[in-house]
Amino acid sequence: MAVVSKGLEGIVAAETQMSFIDGEKGVLEYVGIAIDELARNSTFEETVFLLWNQRLPRKAELDAFNKALRAQYDLPPFIDGLIAAFPKNAQPMHVLRTAVSAMALVDPNPNSIEPAEYRAKALAILAKTGAIIAAFDRRRRGLEPIKPDHSLSFAANFLYLLNGSKPTPTMERAFDVCMILHADHGLNASTFTGRVIASTLSDIYSVMSGAIGALRGPLHGGANEGVMVMLEEIGSVEKVDAWVDDALKNKKKIMGFGHRVYKAYDPRATYLKTLAEQLSKDTGNEKLYQMSSGIEKRMHDAVAAKGIYPNVDFYSATTYHALGLKLDLFTPMFALSRISGWAAHCIEQLAANRLIRPDAEYTGPHEVDYTPIDRRG
Ligand code: SDX
Repeated sequence: MAVVSKGLEGIVAAETQMSFIDGEKGVLEYVGIAIDELARNSTFEETVFLLWNQRLPRKAELDAFNKALRAQYDLPPFIDGLIAAFPKNAQPMHVLRTAVSAMALVDPNPNSIEPAEYRAKALAILAKTGAIIAAFDRRRRGLEPIKPDHSLSFAANFLYLLNGSKPTPTMERAFDVCMILHADHGLNASTFTGRVIASTLSDIYSVMSGAIGALRGPLHGGANEGVMVMLEEIGSVEKVDAWVDDALKNKKKIMGFGHRVYKAYDPRATYLKTLAEQLSKDTGNEKLYQMSSGIEKRMHDAVAAKGIYPNVDFYSATTYHALGLKLDLFTPMFALSRISGWAAHCIEQLAANRLIRPDAEYTGPHEVDYTPIDRRG
């Protein structure tokens, strides 16, 4: 009788050159570079190059990468028109999944997995995702979308497209760091989804649509929105302890806590906590930060012994709120960054592909006779 690992817990399903995670020590490295080194010194564009090439770029290479990415910022008219037709009350993650999927309809060679063409498609999807999210958000507010500014970084261009004004250097840098921190993380559910789809030699648009669908789930990328809902429900610092105690007593999952791999503090949460504290002070959102740190303390007293700590989603909620993002744009922010990790994993999968097809342990009956419909009682 085979031993089934529920949720594939502890199963090693691939080798990867992108993220190294030590869940016991709370370590995350991208191609060997510690995540806080990258958050302190790198940019999202440089991090994407690192993930896609397994090395940091030389200056000329980074300039060329930036130029190629920015050249792809603009949405094709067909996608723009599609977004204009979307219901204003559609959920942004459903909008994102639909619009990225529709990009296949205007690609003359959508199914190509030839390496250079695949990378070009990945770059185009990465570059256009910000414009998709921003265009939909502006249209649902009755505003016209804004044309991208090719002189701006990935982070600055997105905030410009969303708000109609260029971000301050502090806001641009904070968002850029959020993008670095969310880029890749081993075989998480959405990345594994992408790799399964890529392993059938299907197209990159199918990969991205499937991965966006997996990320939306509240147990995965959707948790950052769940954290904000929780903070709004608690309402004040004074109510934190009672709310957390009651939730734990009723076996509720506290959003933004716990992790399949980390049984220590998620190193991304460490960085996001610092960002959240700074930005909430700068923008008059201290209460959110104080509530979050209060929840963290109460949870530590109650469940740290079980290895349950804040994960990447816990403080990203306060950070995104302080950056002026609406709650239902939080998970799209996760996708905006993780598209780079999904693409990196599919490039890696295709370089040494084998169809991903695990076994299942059959536990149903055998030798059952077929009963004609008129004799089924
Ligand atoms: C992300 O995999 C990745 O790398 C993901 C990610 C990435 O970068 O791609 O890091 C991003 O998805 C982060 C996780 C975001 N999700 C949440 O914050 C949702 C809340 N967290 C939980 O649902 C949970 O911690 C999971 C889903 C993240 C992990 O769950 P597991 O590994 O399946 O663990 P489990 O649900 O079996 O819990 C084990 C125990 C249980 O207690 P017992 O029944 O054994 O007594 O820990 C408890 C759980 O009740 N527990 C929690 C808890 N998480 C686990 N209790 C309260 N609150 C929580 N958040």
